[in-house]
Amino acid sequence: MSTFDTVWETSLEEEGFVLSKKRVVAMLAVGLLALAGCGSDDGGGSSSGASSGGGGGDNITLGFAQVGAESGWRTANTKSIQDSAKEAGIDLKFSDAQQKQENQIKAIRSYIQQKVDVIAFSPVVESGWDAVLNEAKRANIPVILTDRAVDSQDKSLYKTFLGSDFVKEGHEAGAWVVNEYKDAPGPVNIAELQGTTGSAPAIDRKEGFTAEISKDPKFKITQSQTGEFTRAKGKEVMEAFLKSGKKIDLLFAHNDDMALGAIEAIEGAGLKPGKDIKIVSIDAVHDGMQALADGKINFIAECSPLLGPQLMDLVKKVKAGESVPARIETEETTFDQAAATAALPDRKY
Ligand code: AHR
Repeated sequence: MSTFDTVWETSLEEEGFVLSKKRVVAMLAVGLLALAGCGSDDGGGSSSGASSGGGGGDNITLGFAQVGAESGWRTANTKSIQDSAKEAGIDLKFSDAQQKQENQIKAIRSYIQQKVDVIAFSPVVESGWDAVLNEAKRANIPVILTDRAVDSQDKSLYKTFLGSDFVKEGHEAGAWVVNEYKDAPGPVNIAELQGTTGSAPAIDRKEGFTAEISKDPKFKITQSQTGEFTRAKGKEVMEAFLKSGKKIDLLFAHNDDMALGAIEAIEGAGLKPGKDIKIVSIDAVHDGMQALADGKINFIAECSPLLGPQLMDLVKKVKAGESVPARIETEETTFDQAAATAALPDRKY
């Protein structure tokens, strides 16, 4: 039996218990729980509940289904959401899907069953959400997409999508490559570490990057595989790329963590990252920025994980029945070595 099944059955038993008692006993129990600041479990992967205080979000419960803890970016994103909920006085029910869509779907169903006020989630992959989003809609629970999009045609299934333009990030990375090699004769052999297969950032970043390098046939992606957005997998796949014996001039990593894993593989093979093999990546988390400042990465397109404050504002607005923009794009920049060195002392994640 999985953790989720245990949690699910426990919550059902608890609910059955409450229903079987006299109303006054149930009300007292709820009151005591609220006083003790307890949250309930949310299903899927690991989960936690946390009451929060202050900030005008009284009586709002937000169920948030997170992707996982695969990267430095994700860790910073989770902290931003948890801190901001607390600051806003929103009761946050949080679950970690461990990069599995089925866990996220179970968590969302659990939030529907618990009748939370708002559901927010960062979809592991783009497709396969219509059924559960329709269930939320039928239960009159508004949904907010954060960080990653879904490919549903029915836009009424969610109120808004808050997050980065991943296609733009791919374009920025590709444009840097085109400029860097503008006087080089070619071919320029590129290895690519893709993010989680089927995820919006993996699909969109590849699209933007490919659009740029396709402008000149000298750029060739000679090896491409998923590194699942993790450092460990990035290292493993880069080791395999290097062992293939194919020449690699440049690595495009869909995030910093995979680039950092690849750096370990490149150094392990006796080569110099940033020189023998140039590296372009996306995110600009602290460790990535340090590697850029150290000359081991050559360029990073930023993807900000600090979505918490904007998300809590949106939660309050949709709970109050106010209209919100259908798309809210995160403001981001790009970094070369000098910019990373200058930004590092104040970097928040
Ligand atoms: O969805 C955002 C992406 O997910 C980040 O770029 C990556 O680091 C994370 O795992």
